[in-house]
Amino acid sequence: MKVTIDNITIDVPAGTTILNAARMIGGEVTPPAMCYYSKLEGSGGKCRTCLCEVSKGSEKDPRPMPKLVASCRTTVMDGMEVKNITSPKVQDARKGVVEMLLINHPLDCPVCDQAGECSLQDLSYEHGTEKTRYEFERRTFEKEDLGPNIQLHMNRCILCYRCVFTAEQLTKARQHGVMMRGDHAEISTYLSKSLDHEFIGNIIDVCPVGALTDKTFRFKNRVWFTKPVDAHRDCPTCSGKARLWMRGDEVFRVTARKDQWGEVEEWICNDCRFHKKETKDWVIEGPSKVDRRSVISQGHYYGVKKQPVLIDKIIGKQPRMLLDIHSISDVNKPNIDLSKISGPAHSDDFNK
Ligand code: SF4
Ligand code: FES
Repeated sequence: MKVTIDNITIDVPAGTTILNAARMIGGEVTPPAMCYYSKLEGSGGKCRTCLCEVSKGSEKDPRPMPKLVASCRTTVMDGMEVKNITSPKVQDARKGVVEMLLINHPLDCPVCDQAGECSLQDLSYEHGTEKTRYEFERRTFEKEDLGPNIQLHMNRCILCYRCVFTAEQLTKARQHGVMMRGDHAEISTYLSKSLDHEFIGNIIDVCPVGALTDKTFRFKNRVWFTKPVDAHRDCPTCSGKARLWMRGDEVFRVTARKDQWGEVEEWICNDCRFHKKETKDWVIEGPSKVDRRSVISQGHYYGVKKQPVLIDKIIGKQPRMLLDIHSISDVNKPNIDLSKISGPAHSDDFNK
């Protein structure tokens, strides 16, 4: 099927969602996704961050869709035209969604372990407003231990259901879920049971915010000070392919490896995640490829896969330089191009 997203046309198999079609194009036309997770069946449709405008339904029925649609749950039709970053309506709606997600979310990034790899932090950086209009008291909860290795900080949860789907699809008996509904909805365990299945640690990796944290790593280090390396071990339970977050020789944290959309590539077991914290437990393959445009990639340049730059295709022409600051600036000498001089500029390069 032919689908056009932000003026870029591609062919995709029937049944592909708009979000996945946009991921095939890559770059900035890809809508953010806080609840959809390609490895989890039934995920998506909860957070509304992936809203897009369908300006033409299909070749057969070209009428636009009356409302913005969740791109993770809407499949493409032949000839469909979709707007994401080219739609002011979408940008405005996304701003509203971020504002709503932040209504009850504490702004505790400085002390949150997810800082630096938090989808909500990235989203509010790109689409949030600097102020809140919310005047009421925020919902607050006591922290809850979900077994020996996982802590739930419900104040930060955005109810994306990813952890529920992970437990449902990876473990034999799910022991937690979303209790209550609406304003009272919260993640909790059934009769305060602990979560002890051998794959349950993966709920930490799928959580887009800092609501589920690894108790063996909490407050030990900021993620951008650690170096991610890929490593494997001969594990009887899982594939044993993991990512170690190291500082010097110390392994601070073990997680699953994630792809360029921030999604787990292969699930790992609790033993690899919580108990194998020595370098001798692992065969180190080398530095991880960090693909995301987040603070987490700070200083980790090995094998970075760049997203395509598509702006000329999206606006249909080469962007024009709006202002040639060099020719009108009174500050630098007109015969000196500051970007071209070797080494840093000094006083001789400027008009006195
Ligand atoms: S705890 Fe995390 S993964 Fe689970 S619903 Fe809340 S935000 Fe989503
Ligand atoms: S990612 Fe589509 S609704 Fe959440």
